[in-house]
Amino acid sequence: MCGIVGYIGPREAYPIIIEGLKRLEYRGYDSAGVALFDGTDLKVCKTKGKVVDLENKLPTNITNTGHIGIGHTRWATHGVPNDVNSHPHYSNSGNLVIIHNGIIENYEALKKELIKRGFTFQSDTDTEVLVNLIEDVKNKENVKLGKAVQIALNQVIGAYAIAVFDKTQPKEIVIARLGSPLAVGVGKDEFFIASDASPFLEYTKDAIYLEDEEMAIIRLNRDIKIRKIKDDSLVDPYVQTLKLNLEEIEKGGFDHFMLKEIYEQPRAITDTYRGRLNRQEAIIKMSSVEDNMKKFLNADRIIIVACGTSWHAGLVAEYIFEDLARIPVEVEYASEFRYRNPIITEKDVVIAISQSGETADTLAAIKLAKSKGAFVFGVCNVVGSSIARETDAGAYTHAGPEIGVASTKAFTTQITVLYLIALRLARAKGTISSSDFRHHLLELEMIPKKVEKVLESNEHIKYIADIYKDVHNFLYLGRGYNFPVALEGALKLKEISYIHAEGYPAAEMKHGPIALIDENMPIVVIATKKGHYEKVVSNIQEIKARKGKIIGIVTEGDVDVRELADHVIEVPETLESLSPLLTTIPLQLLSYHIAVLIGKNVDQPRNLAKSVTVE
Ligand code: F6R
Repeated sequence: MCGIVGYIGPREAYPIIIEGLKRLEYRGYDSAGVALFDGTDLKVCKTKGKVVDLENKLPTNITNTGHIGIGHTRWATHGVPNDVNSHPHYSNSGNLVIIHNGIIENYEALKKELIKRGFTFQSDTDTEVLVNLIEDVKNKENVKLGKAVQIALNQVIGAYAIAVFDKTQPKEIVIARLGSPLAVGVGKDEFFIASDASPFLEYTKDAIYLEDEEMAIIRLNRDIKIRKIKDDSLVDPYVQTLKLNLEEIEKGGFDHFMLKEIYEQPRAITDTYRGRLNRQEAIIKMSSVEDNMKKFLNADRIIIVACGTSWHAGLVAEYIFEDLARIPVEVEYASEFRYRNPIITEKDVVIAISQSGETADTLAAIKLAKSKGAFVFGVCNVVGSSIARETDAGAYTHAGPEIGVASTKAFTTQITVLYLIALRLARAKGTISSSDFRHHLLELEMIPKKVEKVLESNEHIKYIADIYKDVHNFLYLGRGYNFPVALEGALKLKEISYIHAEGYPAAEMKHGPIALIDENMPIVVIATKKGHYEKVVSNIQEIKARKGKIIGIVTEGDVDVRELADHVIEVPETLESLSPLLTTIPLQLLSYHIAVLIGKNVDQPRNLAKSVTVE
């Protein structure tokens, strides 16, 4: 979950690395560091904290030297976030430096062996063990860096994306990947190394994505040689031209990426159905679904695997698939699914949902499902990500880069893709009439405009946020399609404001959470007109009787809830099945404003990272 960057070529390495680290900070921001080679000497600077802390710490003479360098921004796994545990890590001789994203699971055993052989360690990290293992191999076997990395990695259990530099062979950087992403930007006589393409997009759009169990030696003014780590066979580099723009990954006038991404949702949802939904012809065209239609139609059930917000999108999809296409659905946390010996057969279709396409548990769940013969379909946002490549087929969400750590537009676009799939299957199965199908297409097409309408409530939501910003607990309630939205609203608040929040199905309130309600407890209730409205109104009465503060998310023109609630936020009317695409928006904005008002770092909340590549 760390971010790694490297450069080798004619330009000055430092600015490329430092700017690249800023773009990768979403992957972790516990500490940052760089190693730069100025032609004679290797300089390492690292610090606990963010990339800007690193910039402040760097001596001025480090900034104008060298054409080779590597940098790292860390999300701590082994060892607390402090200066010593920050990357890059030196080997004992001081000749080798390494940056690493991942976890070396057998590092303790390796460390014991290395200590017996006289190695000493400064940090608590698994990474320092790896760099010394490479050094040990290099000395013992009398081989060059590339070979030493290869031999060492064959002794390692775990996950890694690494870049290693050896000042005794200062014209190359060695990189390798297993389980953590690694891209190489290919310029003219220069190469960029990064966890994703964002650090090098302004220099080149040509990229090579290393596959698992591949390593590469990148040589100054020369070439890149890719090999399989296990059997040493050479791999032909596959250079692809990326379509991403730099503007897409910048803030565009908003104070935070999260706010920008909330506001991007009308565009993102449109991009997600564009080219797939054709209302005039009343069809949905998704080649990956058409190509595998038999598998979907013959499936005994669909199992959805995902984590976090993507899991919430999966829960919404459960309602959609069962309701429209009448296919039984189970939704599983990928982290539980992979370890509980699940019953999976060749007649199961597994849908894996992931914004980043790199979530370790989701990836492992996919591998497990595939090994049991299930057909695995991916719903990812990041093009070319590990999950996108590992699945049998899939559909991208087209949300554009999501940088804010709290997921927003990924959620609504995931629901949009899943909605399209469910509608297409419903049509194929005949579980929806042609007129209902048309009606759904029309309503879906109108969602972006309706999201724009919800966004107009921003100031009102900010006003509500100001009233409740200092409370310690929140409750979120919803029923049916909006129960997962309640979970998502609570998650958004927790992760960026650190205020405790619980999401519950509204009817479950009576079975426990009602005990929490008093005059200090704000309760967000999703009470749109079509979603078991009367039942939810009864639940609101029960809250009112206990003096809870009610923030109702209601359909435009609502009267009943308005009378009972302390505040209401209106959303336009739509089909109940599409309502999560609207009701989620005020909850995102409410969390955002509360977090900003109490001074939290919205885009980089503590302890979190955007891409969870460790289990
Ligand atoms: C919450 C959030 C996380 C992610 C989860 C899965 O705002 O961002 O809960 O949803 O880590 O990530 P992906 O979708 O990349 O697999």
